[in-house]
Amino acid sequence: MKILVTGGAGFIGSHTCVELLNGGYEIAVLDNLCNSNIKSLERVKEITGKTFNFYNVDLLDYEATDKVFKNEKFDAVIHFAGLKAVGESVEKPLLYYHNNITGTLNLLDIMRKNGVFNIVFSSSATVYGSPKSLPIKEDFPLSTTNPYGSTKLMIEGILNDLYKADNRFSVTILRYFNPIGAHESGKIGEDPKGIPNNLMPYIQQVAIGKLPILSVFGNKYPTKDGTGVRDYIHVVDLSVAHVKAVEKKSGQPGVYVYNVGTGNGYSVLEMVKAFEKASGKEVKYKICPNRPGDIAACYADASKAEEELDWTAKFGLEEMCRDGWNWQKNNPNGYED
Ligand code: NAD
Ligand code: WQD
Repeated sequence: MKILVTGGAGFIGSHTCVELLNGGYEIAVLDNLCNSNIKSLERVKEITGKTFNFYNVDLLDYEATDKVFKNEKFDAVIHFAGLKAVGESVEKPLLYYHNNITGTLNLLDIMRKNGVFNIVFSSSATVYGSPKSLPIKEDFPLSTTNPYGSTKLMIEGILNDLYKADNRFSVTILRYFNPIGAHESGKIGEDPKGIPNNLMPYIQQVAIGKLPILSVFGNKYPTKDGTGVRDYIHVVDLSVAHVKAVEKKSGQPGVYVYNVGTGNGYSVLEMVKAFEKASGKEVKYKICPNRPGDIAACYADASKAEEELDWTAKFGLEEMCRDGWNWQKNNPNGYED
């Protein structure tokens, strides 16, 4: 079976390429490298000892994307390609809507024209907005608070409409919680451009001495210690969920939606402590005002993925911190080293 991985040079995509290749799948990667480095794919080849084609193509370029499908015959697409920075999406909504939505519309049209009907899409727990209760189940009401989240919700709607109109499609929507960590080899990991927006890359850069101190955004939330609680998931566990989705759902027309989380919620301060333990480094922090738009707590009920995809997270917090630190200390400047 051959899979096209859009956004395959990125953080989650590169880890998923490793799991697909190790699982015996053939792959090709399409990425315009706007938020990634070609070296990630060289490392994927090193880790797996396997090779594949890379297409430096923008999904906004319809003709170039179509050529990829003319060049190779795919059985399924895993669609990671998209912009993902929440704050930037508020400043540049048109960029986000254009890149994420138009890019996906092009991809879906090209898939249909070329007879490829299996897709796994990267959605996000952000589509649950501010949940009324926890843990979050897939049938909870959906809403968003920023343009990035709106692109995810709109694309989910587009995929549902597409299946209604053409029930040859098999659509699996994976709603990720908070992916962190790195491959155990320390060769691939998250390589944010500039100052990280997300908690774990920020903690990692404080631990390595690139950033002086972590700002903890609020300590008066109604949570165990007042700081925000999230469901952190090891990126390798998340990647395996994609392999399971392709394996179980390809050729099974329908729309399938799954939470991909561990079901455990950890606070910001718990994450700081766990990372200090794993790295043996101090992570200095100061308490700051809440970050606008943040919710107090968010964690998944992931039982549907367990029942239907035969998937559960295997790694705990210790492994997430250990592997994140291993990547950071081997690659202090990411792929630029
Ligand atoms: P990433 O930025 O590392 O990877 C995305 C990749 O898509 C990058 O390599 C980028 O160059 C590529 N890309 C973007 N626009 C493109 C376009 N128009 N044409 C071709 N390539 C394009 O991000 P990631 O963390 O690996 O996330 C992958 C997907 O998962 C994204 O869709 C993201 O929104 C979603 N997601 C991520 C998280 C998270 O916390 N990391 C959580 C939920 C959902
Ligand atoms: C986690 C916790 C912060 C940074 C975001 C997107 C979401 C999804 C995953 C793509 C919160 C606190 C953070 C810092 C802090 N992405 N924090 N200091 O906000 O849960 O989710 O990434 O789909 O859409 O919104 O993740 O890592 O930014 O924050 O105190 O410097 O850490 O307040 O409680 P978040 P995060």
